[in-house]
Amino acid sequence: MNEFIQLQDQITKEFKTVDSANQANHFKSKFIGKNGILTELLNQLKHLDAESKKKHGYEINKLKNLVTSLYSSFNENLDQSESIQTDYSIPVYVNKGSLHPLTLAIKQIHEIMQNFGFMYELGPSVEDTYYNFDALNIDHNHPSRDAKETFFTANNVLRTHTTAVQIRALESQKYTNNFRVYSIGDVYRRDDDATHLPMFHQIEGFVIDEEASIATLKYFLLNFLRKFFENDNISIRLRPGYFPFTEPSVEVDVKFENGKWLEILGAGIIRKNILSSYGHKNGFAFGIGLERITMIKFGINNMRNFVTNDYPWLQNYSSRR
Ligand code: PHE
Repeated sequence: MNEFIQLQDQITKEFKTVDSANQANHFKSKFIGKNGILTELLNQLKHLDAESKKKHGYEINKLKNLVTSLYSSFNENLDQSESIQTDYSIPVYVNKGSLHPLTLAIKQIHEIMQNFGFMYELGPSVEDTYYNFDALNIDHNHPSRDAKETFFTANNVLRTHTTAVQIRALESQKYTNNFRVYSIGDVYRRDDDATHLPMFHQIEGFVIDEEASIATLKYFLLNFLRKFFENDNISIRLRPGYFPFTEPSVEVDVKFENGKWLEILGAGIIRKNILSSYGHKNGFAFGIGLERITMIKFGINNMRNFVTNDYPWLQNYSSRR
């Protein structure tokens, strides 16, 4: 009898160490498998007298039932914990992010500009007034130097345009002979109404090349815009404009199938006094408003949508790459 009490101890002890389906199977066959301990004991019964056979048989079967019920209780728990892990019936809010339309546009512009052989320059958002104004012929009486128009810090300015990057790139003397440089970045002006944000973005590009002219500028811009809008049917027109750092200067409008002209950028031939300071002779430059062309491209009619962080609105662009 003692033997059966010991066996029962062994069974319950060993069951406590079982923590995988594999171990549970092993536990079961160790006791009641073909060569299991309890199976062996049952086989031995035939050597006993009738009285002992009955008693032992009873005890062994009790232990067999113990093993079986422990084994199945383990599997039941296992099933339950597995079904919790894989319960697809609970509604899940899949908080999958998507790229902001301005980010999508920036990615595409990097691709286009690099295919056109332009080198990227970053430039700081908080800019020295020298690069933002003086080096670009913007003198002290220019309206953009007024605190009503522009954000000044103690000694600097939140850049009002990415044209400042042109001067930094030229000054660095990193580029020699014919070259093309572009920048994409945040710019700041004291404008805040339905169609203006105090912070927006510009794409700046300039080409130093003896062939640079209004004609090559127009050719480049037309191709850039056709790529950006993924539309070969657009046309552009150049109107005379004024910038202190280009001469001649132009304002560029774009026309889509609907026949309406939309102004989207400023450009021109870089002034000789700027170029000659850095040992160059000829070049063109342009500055494009990123928000404006992105709104046109995606049919966005309120510029404020870019900054209100409205999740469902942002999701509209999640299918774009
Ligand atoms: N910097 C000008 C602006 O902010 C755009 C421009 C860039 C014009 C380069 C000419 C050449 O409007």
